[in-house]
Amino acid sequence: MDKSFIRNFSIIAHIDHGKSTLADRILEVTGAVDKKHKGAQLLDDMELEQERGITIKASVVRLSYRSRKTGGEYVLNLIDTPGHVDFTYEVSKSLAACEGAILVVDAGQGIEAQTVANFYLAKDNKLAIIPLVNKIDLNTADVAGTAQQIIDVLGFKEEDIILASAKEGIGVEALLERIIEVIPPPTGEITNPFKALVFDCRFDAYKGVVIFVRVVDGIMDMKTQIKLMHSGKQYKIEELGVFKDLKYSNADALSCGEVGYFTANIRDPREIIIGDTVADLKNPCAQAFPGYRTIKPLVFCGIYPVNPADFPALRDAMDKLKLSDASFVFEPENSQSFGVGFRCGFLGLLHMEIVQERLEREYGLNLILTVPNVVYRVKTVKGELFEVDTPAKFPAQQDIVEAQEPYVGLMMIIPVDAIENVCDFTKSRRGIFQSNEYLTENRVKLIFEMPLAEIIVDFYDRIKSLTRGYGSLDYEFKEYMPTKLVKLDIMLNGTVCDAFSSLIYKEKAYSKAHALVAKLKELIPRQLFEVTVQAAVGSQILASEKIRSLGKHVTAKCYGGDITRKRKLWDIQKHGKKRLKQFGKVEIPQEAFLEVLKI
Ligand code: GTP
Repeated sequence: MDKSFIRNFSIIAHIDHGKSTLADRILEVTGAVDKKHKGAQLLDDMELEQERGITIKASVVRLSYRSRKTGGEYVLNLIDTPGHVDFTYEVSKSLAACEGAILVVDAGQGIEAQTVANFYLAKDNKLAIIPLVNKIDLNTADVAGTAQQIIDVLGFKEEDIILASAKEGIGVEALLERIIEVIPPPTGEITNPFKALVFDCRFDAYKGVVIFVRVVDGIMDMKTQIKLMHSGKQYKIEELGVFKDLKYSNADALSCGEVGYFTANIRDPREIIIGDTVADLKNPCAQAFPGYRTIKPLVFCGIYPVNPADFPALRDAMDKLKLSDASFVFEPENSQSFGVGFRCGFLGLLHMEIVQERLEREYGLNLILTVPNVVYRVKTVKGELFEVDTPAKFPAQQDIVEAQEPYVGLMMIIPVDAIENVCDFTKSRRGIFQSNEYLTENRVKLIFEMPLAEIIVDFYDRIKSLTRGYGSLDYEFKEYMPTKLVKLDIMLNGTVCDAFSSLIYKEKAYSKAHALVAKLKELIPRQLFEVTVQAAVGSQILASEKIRSLGKHVTAKCYGGDITRKRKLWDIQKHGKKRLKQFGKVEIPQEAFLEVLKI
């Protein structure tokens, strides 16, 4: 295939600015799908993505387009990217396979934090960027104002900007012509030894592991014996193809500039490293790609099957999930309360929720998650420095010389009238003000440094409500800084329930202890005996509550008589117990574990 007729591009945007809708229109205009297709958002193929209206996983589609201006027949590879702050890593993986990006900005919202973050990500990847103002059909659209922001803040010229409504299909043809005009065709030489980048992969029940590649040099066909340069593994190709019109479609060869896939009878997802280089075993290329930086998850929690017998099924599901989500990590752990499960690492809280939902929905598992925490570091009196990703690993207070926690650089773009509230709230979360910059008369960009631990729980929701929905944020890890950390335990009748333990900034331990104990008193039903709920740091009790005993048996009111009636009551009681978790003698409803997450 003549690579001067290939264009590889992504669409990038802040969440909800209309990326998926625009992709749908592009698919229709290029004839990849029927205009009358049912159910919007074709690239969001996971059930969960459609329901939540967010793009989680990058997907690819190959389209054909005949340009009105040049008359040429072009191949467009559209690589979709997610828009949420947790998934910056996914975006950067997709961008590495492209020469261009369309930057979508909602005319009703203007530039937001991830517009700026994604713009710089694309610039760092040296992509040609086409700015597009979307939703110009909205009554509330400020088309001129949004275009002006793109000019002032991102440095584009007015004539660079495409005005569009993805919903109405306005501006889509102009965009396609602009793609042909300004996005350069791929570079690379067909005569060079074969070299391709692994930028994504999926698990398919029939095909096994499907590896998504961007060919940079040379050509591969069914006879090419391949080697992955980082992992060192060699494979025989089983199937080769492209993503024509949203489907896997066989091809005889993949040549330089093309985006496609291959399978090689790989069953174990863990064999594949995203960012690896595919080479020809017999004629290897000189140098591998540097590989993506390995992203370290900073948020951890325990995941346990409600039914311990589901442990092998959970392990299998996690292995498969990891294939399409390299940033998700896990290792087995044991909990006194829940038995065997996994310690799992995520990019952020949304990522955690999505993994939980996917495990439950796609694999039919019933799960319990423990309180999430960031990864701390602890220096001990023995001179060791180690990472603490679970409260269980936190050493006794007297063994600690210094604890450290991760800080992030936080960027927020908010309306000017919310500055005071947002700054006060961010400071209450231990944020340290760095700078501000007025983007327009009524929008300001704020930069803070703050502990990640203060962001992972409900920070974004609070900023949204303080700005009536007009605030947005983005953050990236900066460094570890010294902190004062304690382990807060919850005891039920004197025994620590490890599932409720958390690591917390010392000055916030007291208020959290009271909030936790009060909430548990509300959530744990009365039992046949009195239950004392206490929160403690070491041996010091910070808060305590008693749950009075029920005092009588459920069947007590069925005086003597009818045994069938008693059986029925016992049955009902047994059924109710299924949703309860036994801790010692105390029964805790599952929702209690989820509710305490929110404190
Ligand atoms: P993520 O996948 O979460 O990153 O969002 P997205 O950027 O893909 O946005 P999506 O396409 O899901 O659109 C968000 C919302 O805006 C949806 O309700 C769309 O129907 C709506 N929308 C998208 N484009 C337009 C448009 O041009 N005009 C109007 N009025 N609404 C639009």
